[in-house]
Formats: sequence, C-alpha cells, structure tokens
Amino acid sequence: MIRDLLKNLVNEILKSQNWPVLESEEIQIEKPDNPDFGDYAVNIAFDLAKQLKKSPQEVAQTIAEEIDKAKPTEIAKVETVGGYVNFFLSDDFLHQSLADIYKNRKNYGKSASGKGQKIIVEYSQPNIAKQMHIGHLRTTVLGDAMANIYENLGYKVIRWNYLGDWGTQFGKLIAAYKLWGSKKEIETAPIRALTGLYVKFHQELKEHPELDRRGQEEFAKLEANDKENRKLWKWFRKLSIKEFERIYKTLGINFDIWLGESHFEKELKSLVADLRKRGIAEIGEEGATIIKLDQFNLPPALIQKGDGASLYLTRDIAALKYRLDKYKPAKLLYVVGNEQSLHFEQLFAAAKILDLNTAELSHIKYGLVLGEDKKKMSTREGEAIPLEEVIQKAMELAYKIVDKKSQDLPEKEKAEIARTVTLGALKYEMLNEHRNSDIVFSWEKMLDFSGNSAPYLQYTYARLHSILDKAGKIDKSDFTMLTEKSEFVIIKHLLNFPDAVVDSARNNLTNNLALYLYELSNLVNQFYETTPILKDDDTTRRHARLILIQTTASILKSGLNLLGIQTLDRI
Ligand code: ARG
Repeated sequence: MIRDLLKNLVNEILKSQNWPVLESEEIQIEKPDNPDFGDYAVNIAFDLAKQLKKSPQEVAQTIAEEIDKAKPTEIAKVETVGGYVNFFLSDDFLHQSLADIYKNRKNYGKSASGKGQKIIVEYSQPNIAKQMHIGHLRTTVLGDAMANIYENLGYKVIRWNYLGDWGTQFGKLIAAYKLWGSKKEIETAPIRALTGLYVKFHQELKEHPELDRRGQEEFAKLEANDKENRKLWKWFRKLSIKEFERIYKTLGINFDIWLGESHFEKELKSLVADLRKRGIAEIGEEGATIIKLDQFNLPPALIQKGDGASLYLTRDIAALKYRLDKYKPAKLLYVVGNEQSLHFEQLFAAAKILDLNTAELSHIKYGLVLGEDKKKMSTREGEAIPLEEVIQKAMELAYKIVDKKSQDLPEKEKAEIARTVTLGALKYEMLNEHRNSDIVFSWEKMLDFSGNSAPYLQYTYARLHSILDKAGKIDKSDFTMLTEKSEFVIIKHLLNFPDAVVDSARNNLTNNLALYLYELSNLVNQFYETTPILKDDDTTRRHARLILIQTTASILKSGLNLLGIQTLDRI
C-alpha cells in the first residue's frame, strides 16, 4: 500500500540519522489538494523538531536531502515547504504500479489483515409487527457494506439480524387481536393489519384505561408460555419475517443469523438474580434492579422493573454474553441509530463491569433520514413511509429515466437496468453521507446520472465496459506510452484504493469510499472525454490506454460491490 511504502521510506531516513523511528500511526500521510505540493505530504518534522530541539524546516530539509541522496525508484523528487516534506511519485513507479494493479485487479484492495479474527456485524434489526421504514434502510445498507469491507480484509464476518421480537408491546398486540382481530386481514397484509391493531389499542386505551391491564396480563401469559398466546406471537413473528425477507431479497441483503431479543428471554431472570447475588446489581427505586454506572458518569442501567419485567438492556446484556461465549469474536459492531447512544454507552459500561469485554464493542451510530423538507419522511397520517413504498417509487422514477435513456434496449433489459439503478441509488444515498450526519433524502439527486450518485458511477462503469467491448482483445502493452497528466492522475488515484478500504474499516465509515469512487469516475470520464482511446492511431499506446480503462473499471466495480452496489455492462 502506498501509505506504508512512504512510511517505510521515511523511517529508513530517521534510522539513518539516529532519530527516533515512528510507529505507523504516528506518521500522517496527507494528499495535498494542490498538486504543486506533491502527491503526498508528510508533516512529522513538526513533532520531531520538538524532540530534537531543531526547527521543523531544518528537520524537513534533512529528510528531503537524505531521500534525494538515497534516490528511491518510487520518488521523482522531494521538496519542503515549511516543515512539510512533499513527495512526487516517479513516472517509472506509476507505470510499474499500473502493471501490478492490472495483473492483480480482481484482488486489488483485498488483504488478509483480519485473518483468523471474527467480527459480528449486527444490523437491520426490524421489529416484529412493524413496517420497515427508511431508517431501517440506513442500518441495513450500512451494516451490509461494513460486513463486505471487513470480509474483504480477511475477517470472518457474521451477519446478524437481531430482531425486535420481544417486549410488552406483544401483550398489547395479542389483546388487540383477541378483541378486534381478523385472521384473514392479517394473512393478506400482515404487518399493515398488525400495526392497525396496535394503533387501535392505543386509541381505545384513551377511553378504556383498563385495557392497559389487559395488555400486561396477555404479556405475562406469553412469558409464562401460555399455549394460545405463544401461538399467536409465533404467528405474528413468522408473517412479519416473511415480509422482511421479501424486502431483503429485493435489496440483495443476507444474514447468517436471525436471533432476536426473544431468544434471550428465558435466561434473564437467572441473569438478574446472579448479578444481584454477586453484588453487581442492586435494588433501586420502586423495587427495580439496577447496575450503578457512576464510575462511567452514566445513569444506572435498569435491568429489571419492579414488577419483574425484563428490559431491552437486559436482553442486550444476555445477547452479548451469548455472542462472546459462542463465537469469540474480536469485534462486535452494532449498527443502530444515534438516538440509542445512551443505551449502548450503558451496555458497554455494564459489559466492563461484568467482564464481557473480550471483544471490541462499537456502536456504529448513524443520523436520521429526512425528507426534502428536512422533516421526518412520513405519510399524511404522520406514520413513517414504509420502506417498500419508497423502493417502489424509486423503481418507477428510475424506469422512466432508463426508458428514455436506453430506448433501443429490449423491455426486459430496461426493467433489469432500472432495478439495478434503483437499488444502487438508494444504497449510495445511504452510504455517501458521513454516518453521523442526517441525510436529506432527495429523489432527484439520488437518480441524477451526472451527479454524485450511484447511477453516475454505474453509468461510468457501463461506459468503460462498452469501450472495452469495442476494443476487442488487448495485447500486452508498454505502459511507458502513458505520459499524459490525465493518465497519471488516474494511476495515482488507483494507488489509493487499498488505503481507502482500510480507512473505511478503521473508522467504520463508507462515505470516504463513496467519495473515492466518485473521484475515480470523474477522473476517468475526463480522460475519456479529452483523450483518444479507441481512435488512438498508435497501437501500443491504444493498448496501454485500454488497460488503464480496464483496470479502472475493475476497481470501480470492486468498490461498488463493497458498498453492496451492482454494476451494469450497459445502461
Ligand atoms: N430493534 C431495535 C429498534 O428498532 C434495534 C435493536 C438494536 N440492537 C441492539 N442490540 N439493541 O429500536
């Protein structure tokens, strides 16, 4: 990887000067915006200067001079600006790099750095009897992309759908079904009918407060394994999962494990009792059981209510224990919205107290998805718009665009293109923003073939594919024929791909990778528009250019696939 290469180079110099050698993380390799300042810049002279009691300029100067003397083949020249050392890559090195990347293009960006380590990525986590909405798209797509990225780095990834399938709401739902439910309605449109019942329960509750009691009783019966209630709960669960699966199938999302909150229900009483016995948990207000988290500056974790009911947090503690025991993961990612930050801070703090910290635990939090009016995307009734409706609408819009763009293609292919474009657009819209920020969801921007969108990237790929199609067989070529600036910038950008993937995993972000691919597309489109490729009358150079195109197409595809986005050979 290019960053490692530069770091080693710098450390060699430090060693030769008998200066302190730096850890990899201590060396920041930057990419100056202005190419006059080199392809890469290193600012270590500032810190070193303090240690060595010299000026940063002096230290930078020495580093630059020594590199100049050593004349590494990778570097054409080094310059200093203030305390910065700026590196310019050599043409030879860039030509050789293209040859290497081309040869290895299918695996470029992959590594084995995570080999032998397991990682559990928990994402999507819809709740039984509730529609999946646009917020679920964000966790689903983000979790899937992170899982792909870790897999690409050699980790054994376990994709986990932690269903929201337990809690007092099921008592209310069962009560509502017994009072007003229709089997037929539930069978025709399960989640819609179940949501309707839940809403009705709450409306009726205003007039009939005694219903509250009824809900609690039904839940108690469910917990006590009452046959009828258990059967109803199972039925609601099964039908809901079927609907979720339909959505996952459309989105191309898979899980290895579907184990939700209900799975841990049975262990909770003994878990709480054990914690109490060990003095870790204590009785707090109104008979509730709590774990004090003062040492973490957090409010106490409530793990059992006064009436003995378990809580969301208790189930998460049990689930964590189960996961650590059974899978021994090195890392566990919870891809869940910002609004649950406190919950995860408490869970992770409790995990420390309970010695459940054998894995690195991370809350991969993300912001809201807002409508174009910057308000929550909701129906006129104030409900969140069901995800399936969002997908449906996107498909229709995409079809119209594709229909116009690709008039000559057969109907079936147009439909397939529209589908792939839609899914790409929706996913990219979720991944292109920094995950901590809210997304302002825009139909137009998302489907804009010339903007920062998946369709633009997919279109770029298709364009490259069509050039290669027309070119026919490419022979071995002489890369020294590539001398244009527009060619070098592409090769330089290709060199950064492995680092972009590593950064994605390190920070659990996808927006940097999306940006990388967008920039790559811009560069290759500029190249294509300004430089003859197929029409280049120098055969050797034409082939070299075609290889540059093929390599770029391949990396664009790998990158998009990491984000869970498919490419198309033609649009
Ligand atoms: N089902 C929950 C919800 O919709 C999210 C679950 C998050 N994961 C967890 N381990 N608590 O709010």
